[in-house]
Amino acid sequence: MALAMMTVPALSMVSHAETWATFKATYRKTYTVEEEASRFDIFMANLRIIEAENRAQGAEVKGITKFADLTAEEFKARYLMNTPRNKTEALKPWDGKCTACVRFPEQATLLAAPPTDYDWTEHGAVTPVKDQGQCGSCWSFGTTGDVEGVLFLAKHNLTSLSEQQLVSCDDKDLGCDGGLQEDAFKYVKKNGLVTEQQYPYTSGKGKSGRCEEALIQNPVAFVSDWVQISCLGSCEKKAAFDEEGMINALIATGPITIGIDASPMQLYKRGIDNPKNCKTSQAGLDHAVLIVGYGVENGTPYWKIKNSWNTDWGEDGYYRIVRGLNKCGVASDAVHSVA
Ligand SMILES: *[C@@H]1O[C@H](CO)[C@@H](O)[C@H](O)[C@H]1NC(C)=O
Ligand SMILES: *[C@@H]1O[C@H](CO)[C@@H](O)[C@H](O)[C@H]1NC(C)=O
Repeated sequence: MALAMMTVPALSMVSHAETWATFKATYRKTYTVEEEASRFDIFMANLRIIEAENRAQGAEVKGITKFADLTAEEFKARYLMNTPRNKTEALKPWDGKCTACVRFPEQATLLAAPPTDYDWTEHGAVTPVKDQGQCGSCWSFGTTGDVEGVLFLAKHNLTSLSEQQLVSCDDKDLGCDGGLQEDAFKYVKKNGLVTEQQYPYTSGKGKSGRCEEALIQNPVAFVSDWVQISCLGSCEKKAAFDEEGMINALIATGPITIGIDASPMQLYKRGIDNPKNCKTSQAGLDHAVLIVGYGVENGTPYWKIKNSWNTDWGEDGYYRIVRGLNKCGVASDAVHSVA
């Protein structure tokens, strides 16, 4: 990684007050007089985390984000799903251990030589990056992203779908308090989804909102089923968390929604993240996102992931993380809708 050693001055060399002022101006932060001092302390602690992480990774992947004035706990409480749901039922039909051989799509064989990279954003299957705001509704964005892609492949028509319908009307899930894409897929199978335009997002301030029945009378998107694909496509190996199988499913059937331990994403800036401290178990997954592509950069394989924290976060709203290590659980709970 020749680019790793940047000529950026050490944080201790630049004026902290200036860095703080720039941060506040950039992200339009305002605080009460009482709050300002404690926010500054948290910001300084985050600068130290950023420095340590970049040193450990040998690359400048972390930096000052719009979440840099929050502790990790505050960030989790406001933007992630801090109460993971009981997944016992949701895990069907997958046995959870990858002992059963299932291949998705059924008729697909493993590509003998999958392309070294693929990006659905360059092939029309991905709508622009959205913003969930301060609402634990990531599961609804993961769901719409997945269905938008599946629909695009089936009908060659990319239509942005309504997260608000899921947040307000899907009773199995918990709106801004979290949910599971599996349950949301079941809702879509039964009720269909209207477009973003028909039922725009209003939960950015944290209120799930009442279901507006009048807005959901003319759904445009339905799915027939959903599958757990984490271990599919690898019938020969029966390997758990098979990221090769995910590549096959991604290419054949479009972007895939996954769960991820998103704590390393709070201070993510650019490049391929390879965090040391993140969980891979299903219980450790606290955020839903959409895998849209993969590739290799400077010898490092990565997944390209669409997030729902607007375009002023990450790489224009996207995240890249090292591929092949089930890093942060990217392959621990990959699910996909079926047209
Ligand atoms: C999860 O749900 C299953 C089935 O309803 C139940 O048997 C189990 O005790 C639950 N686990 C927890 C941790 O609540
Ligand atoms: C694409 O689908 C949407 C939603 O069903 C529809 O309103 C629109 O007319 C379609 N566009 C084309 C070009 O078919």
